[in-house]
Amino acid sequence: MSRSAHPAGPRHADVLTEGHYSAPAADLNVLDEKVWSRTVTRDTDGALTVGGITVARLAEEFGTPAYFLDESDFRARCRAWSDAFGPDADVFYAGKAFLSRAVVRWLKEEGLNLDVCSGGELTTALDAGMPAERIAFHGNNKTVAEIERAVEAGIGRIVLDSFQEIVRVAHIAQRHGVRQRVQIRVTVGVEAHTHEFIATAHEDQKFGIALADGQAAEAVRRALSLDGLDLIGVHSHIGSQIFDMAGFEVSARRVVQLLAEIRDEHGVELPEIDLGGGLGIAYTSEDDPREPHEIAKALSDIVTRECESAKLRTPRISVEPGRAIVGPTAFTLYEVGTIKPLEGLRTYVSVDGGMSDNIRTALYDAEYSVALVSRTSDAEPMLVRVVGKHCESGDIVVKDAFLPADLAPGDLIAVPATGAYCRSMASNYNHALRPPVVAVRDGEARVIVRRETEEDLLRLDVG
Ligand code: LLP
Repeated sequence: MSRSAHPAGPRHADVLTEGHYSAPAADLNVLDEKVWSRTVTRDTDGALTVGGITVARLAEEFGTPAYFLDESDFRARCRAWSDAFGPDADVFYAGKAFLSRAVVRWLKEEGLNLDVCSGGELTTALDAGMPAERIAFHGNNKTVAEIERAVEAGIGRIVLDSFQEIVRVAHIAQRHGVRQRVQIRVTVGVEAHTHEFIATAHEDQKFGIALADGQAAEAVRRALSLDGLDLIGVHSHIGSQIFDMAGFEVSARRVVQLLAEIRDEHGVELPEIDLGGGLGIAYTSEDDPREPHEIAKALSDIVTRECESAKLRTPRISVEPGRAIVGPTAFTLYEVGTIKPLEGLRTYVSVDGGMSDNIRTALYDAEYSVALVSRTSDAEPMLVRVVGKHCESGDIVVKDAFLPADLAPGDLIAVPATGAYCRSMASNYNHALRPPVVAVRDGEARVIVRRETEEDLLRLDVG
């Protein structure tokens, strides 16, 4: 396609007069390492490379849209988490963020455990050789068939999420002649949001069993009374894309209080607590995520302190980061198709994907960054909205960003930090074909999840 300059859209200066947007802080050609995976750089021609391969080659070989996952970054992040927490804690990667058989093998090799939340994720994990004892099973409504399969496989732990499930899992375990290791998921009264947390008096959500009204203590009573269950601990997950450690500290404190109450009532010191996932990542240059070692220190300090004051043995801590491991390791590569300048407003840049490969912007008003990656440009910045090709005006990939004003159809643009909850939440809306995930490492690229084809669509449509 032609790379000729497109008639420039409204410049940021026009929009600035409305007072809504400030000019981009940095040179658009500079890739902020906060939002790009570790091996991403620009080559001497200005094209983005990942794992030593340029995007032009990747686009030619694998097409667009596509997710490119920086394997060595993924592995480095796994190691950073497990080193930060050390041998006395366990890191469970939350598979819901993105799971494939290759990912399972990397996790296994890097010594991480895995949290699954469906029969499909469990099958993927087991098929790729993750030892069952290193898997935790979550979910507020696991089916009987899923529980059976997990128990039969010898799964490491099932996180009980309701009173019904306590009984269900106990019966199934008994039928199989085993004592299933379980944790109870409690809701601690901390509702976490991005950049903030709000302590709530009541729990108004589907997950977990409330601490506040004594429900959690009752769940513990029941679990301890059932032969099929081996209650190893308590679990708390407070939310997602959280930067402030204060919410985790409140959660840890309340979970430790519960352990102390259990000790006082039953004479049992439960050996483990799981503080869930939810640690935030940088989607834009404005975000400042914590490093794993800071998170590990903050959590272990608070648990140790609280246990000392309650005269409890410090339990083994586990955590379940999903986004913080895989999120920063991938970007989505798109080709620009059409460009629509709206005088005094913004320029709409349409790409060959959209809400079918990234629903997060439409669903959560999520913010993303974007860069022109097939070349550099000295053109002025223009305010853009990157939109998809779907029949819906809410089909927005990046709501507000700046791209060079000479952007043209055929240019490649990339959205960083799309490793988590993009492919895993992708859809076939408008019969879109879900993009492939390509792992890139040391000059080699290989498809780990292939692109869907129209035959795939027709195969499901049985007439
Ligand atoms: N553990 C439990 C029990 C969870 O429910 C979750 C996420 C995690 C761990 C991992 O959280 P992470 O570290 O990845 O934030 N689709 C949403 C996120 C939903 C998260 C659901 N549970 C998004 O795209 O932001």
